[in-house]
Amino acid sequence: MPDTLSSTLLDWYDNHARALPWRNPPGEPAPQDAAWPYRVWLSEIMLQQTTVAAVKPYFEKFTRIWPSVEDLAAASDDEVMAAWAGLGYYSRARNLVKCARMVAEMGGFPASENELRQLPGLGAYAAAAIAAIAFGEWAVVVDANVERVVSRLFNIAEPLPGARKPIRIRAEEITPDDRSGDFAQAMMDLGSSICTTRSPRCLLCPIGDYCEARKAGDPERLPVKPVKKPKPERTGTAFWIERNDHVWLVTREGTGMLGGMRSLPDDGWTARADGSGTAPIAADWRNVGAVQHTFTHAHLTLTVQHAQAESAPDGEGEWWPVADLDQAGLPTLFAKAARLALA
Ligand code: ADE
Repeated sequence: MPDTLSSTLLDWYDNHARALPWRNPPGEPAPQDAAWPYRVWLSEIMLQQTTVAAVKPYFEKFTRIWPSVEDLAAASDDEVMAAWAGLGYYSRARNLVKCARMVAEMGGFPASENELRQLPGLGAYAAAAIAAIAFGEWAVVVDANVERVVSRLFNIAEPLPGARKPIRIRAEEITPDDRSGDFAQAMMDLGSSICTTRSPRCLLCPIGDYCEARKAGDPERLPVKPVKKPKPERTGTAFWIERNDHVWLVTREGTGMLGGMRSLPDDGWTARADGSGTAPIAADWRNVGAVQHTFTHAHLTLTVQHAQAESAPDGEGEWWPVADLDQAGLPTLFAKAARLALA
């Protein structure tokens, strides 16, 4: 009979682990196959700020097109950005390609948390997760699920982000010497299915006997979140410029919001809060409506203007066949704008 929190939780995981395409069955050592760390890395990058349900089809697509890190390293930036379209947080995709090229050059992923942390796009969380899950190294993995479970287990009432330090200390204490990768994934599964943000299902919790917040009677209160600042409202305009069944698309510059992604030309709303920029060409513009989109830092209302053009606007861009628009890899905001223009 298991007699510690970690062995009780691992026992539960052995019987209840979610079967996920990037996962090893519970209790089995990490496969020695070189594709294994690649799959774990790819899944962990995709899962940051994104749900398992949203990630699954992208993970399957990426591993089908690029089965190894070397394959991904050989892909062009454009191909990878287009395949990522719709998953959001596009700096992850830019770093993904950079990281793949660096790892291919190194001859494979390094196994230690410290070395992993040096790679583009890998923060403390991802480096620990990959070291533990892909390489079986001991590491303490703290994501938002783990923060929630640990703050409740130890009734840590200090608000985030100040609570991160005591949470980390406690997470370190309960991480077992063996199977820290399975333990981390067990905490994630517990956090997503039982120790949920709202209405936690404490009666089903395998480690409920250890939980201080449950004893205190109000686990739902934890972790205490900082007061959120309201997001600023921004406005802008996107331009649908059509000619002979083709639409003019540009590739957004830089590493800022949606940088590297194909999109409709716009009036520079990313730089201008009032959306007061001008159209890329003089034309007979028709307003076809507006789309709403929420980014991490702002809500955007993007008005869509439609026109037929005689010639291309100045600057770089490409005429894209309207019939093949779903292959352009437009991020969600511009896919919504395109639907409006085509309606
Ligand atoms: N979220 C982030 N990493 C995960 C994993 N390995 N399993 C389930 N959910 C996750």
